[in-house]
Amino acid sequence: MPKVTYIEHDGTETTLEAATGDSVMETAIAGGVDRIVAECGGSMMCATCHCYVDDAWIERTGTRSEGEDDMLASAVCEVKPTSRLSCQIAMTPELDGLVVHLPEEQV
Ligand code: FES
Repeated sequence: MPKVTYIEHDGTETTLEAATGDSVMETAIAGGVDRIVAECGGSMMCATCHCYVDDAWIERTGTRSEGEDDMLASAVCEVKPTSRLSCQIAMTPELDGLVVHLPEEQV
């Protein structure tokens, strides 16, 4: 199963195994990474699953959609070029080892 590492603002790292097809958000929620809030449950109606894809992975995760851009406009923390909604990144074997950084706040 592909692994994903979450690095919180204070440097705390959590690495979880993801089921292929599950989103980075779903994996975080299942694994108790509480810096991902996911108020809307993954329907792209909030920005509380905001993450920053590590620079080394941005090519493989792809770029965010227009809908993500619209939602990220309401994110609490700074939106950067690497910002994504973690509910919109589906884990695949190719993303094994993915690293995402979490903003200091989501709400
Ligand atoms: S969980 Fe709400 S937009 Fe991702």
